[in-house]
Amino acid sequence: MMAEEAILGYLENHDEISDSGQFATDRGLDHNDVVNVIKSLHGFRYIDAQDIKKETLVLTEEGKKYAEKGSPEVQLFLAVPQEGSISKEELQKLLDPAVYKIGCSQAAKNKWVQMGNQISRKVQHVEDRVKDLLLQIQDGQELGKDDNNSLKARKLTALQTWKGYSVKRGPEYAPRRRRTATDLTREHLQGGDWRNIEFKEYNFSAKGPPPESGHLHPLNKVKERIKNIFRLMNFEEMPTNRYVESSFWNFDALFQPQQHPARDSHDTFFLKAPATTKQLPEDYVEMVKRVHESGGYGSRGYGYEWKREEANKNLLRTHTTAISSRMLYALAQHAKQQSFTPKKYFSIDRVFRNEAVDRTHLAEFHQIEGLVCDRGLTLGHLIGVLQDFFSRLGMDKLKFKPAYNPYTEPSMEIFSYHEGLKKWVEIGNSGMFRPEMLRPMGFSEDVNVIAWGLSLERPTMILYGINNIRDLFGHKVDLGLIKKNPLCLIGIK
Ligand code: PHE
Repeated sequence: MMAEEAILGYLENHDEISDSGQFATDRGLDHNDVVNVIKSLHGFRYIDAQDIKKETLVLTEEGKKYAEKGSPEVQLFLAVPQEGSISKEELQKLLDPAVYKIGCSQAAKNKWVQMGNQISRKVQHVEDRVKDLLLQIQDGQELGKDDNNSLKARKLTALQTWKGYSVKRGPEYAPRRRRTATDLTREHLQGGDWRNIEFKEYNFSAKGPPPESGHLHPLNKVKERIKNIFRLMNFEEMPTNRYVESSFWNFDALFQPQQHPARDSHDTFFLKAPATTKQLPEDYVEMVKRVHESGGYGSRGYGYEWKREEANKNLLRTHTTAISSRMLYALAQHAKQQSFTPKKYFSIDRVFRNEAVDRTHLAEFHQIEGLVCDRGLTLGHLIGVLQDFFSRLGMDKLKFKPAYNPYTEPSMEIFSYHEGLKKWVEIGNSGMFRPEMLRPMGFSEDVNVIAWGLSLERPTMILYGINNIRDLFGHKVDLGLIKKNPLCLIGIK
């Protein structure tokens, strides 16, 4: 530590270092090193340091160029032939455009050249005073007021603030830093020198290194919060641990006709291997086929020939409603064998759609789904549950708009008033499952199911102020966001 020795050593015989910059230059030290040592010694009160600020004149980028190559007026003058003249166009070709422009006006002002279509010299010899002045400044010399002003007006020089310190001995001054012990060791105790050792004081405000730990993705945080809301409302979680689903559970069981555009490979990812499902509950398949073809339970059905091969096709599930249909089927079976038990179910998991990726769409996203299965449920119950659920998410103002799903009737889109955007935004989809879906499962006529679904990404983006979905999910996500995102505070009601 050359700088430290120099500073402490100097103060042994002198009262003050009046200028850390001068001190560094005199000793061939780097001023930055000197400043760092001063800050540290000041912290331990070996020295008292006072800020000093100085304004120094430095060359601008333009000034530096002229200091090297000469002022534009001299460059221009030298480009004009000694005898005769040169045309404007020719002269312009010889010089940098900025040099030409400034050079013309300054050289004319100095009466060095005769301007016109042809340019000629008016004097034989000129001196580059501007360049000389710039070199003097580079050298650290002081200039007269007029010269300073004219260079400043031409933006060839500028003031720069320089920061340094003046330094005196501090209350803990010593010509050398005392070595303080950080730990009491066995050797200290055995040798007895613990009596004389100076221990380093504890710094209770020092920050320790942050402990390494895992980090939850914002989607996981919001997911956990929403799960808790469902749990508070006494909903049970459905097992969603299957991305691959058969068309049967994803579409047919939901009374979605086989020609429906969503069942096209443009919208749905079908599996190549295994391309088809191994087994389906045959009795139930028969009931589903019948309701699609000819209806029943007061419905006319779709009146087309239902194909088993279509239902067998494996796909990546396009909605978690596929899980809901499996769960409701199981519940209806249970009811047939024993007795009907009302249920409240929810799920939050990933779904896949063959979509063009843009700032609000990805080919995979997460769905939140809730359903209530009970006797005598009405649209009023659905609206009530939605109001309860969304108000726990912080969305109190809801509006509903009639909509269409193959498996619900009536169906409603859900809108919430966004206080930030000052407008109504669509937040989900809902409805009452059709008898064409529930009756073939085996539910009796008086059992209804109200259900709703929404994406997990939408509320997460709103809560975390993210407006491109690719910043939230996928390979472009900044890991910093995952490590530093704040707590998710919704649903504390
Ligand atoms: N499955 C619907 C969707 O993918 C959401 C929904 C669930 C609608 C339940 C109505 C009832 O958008």
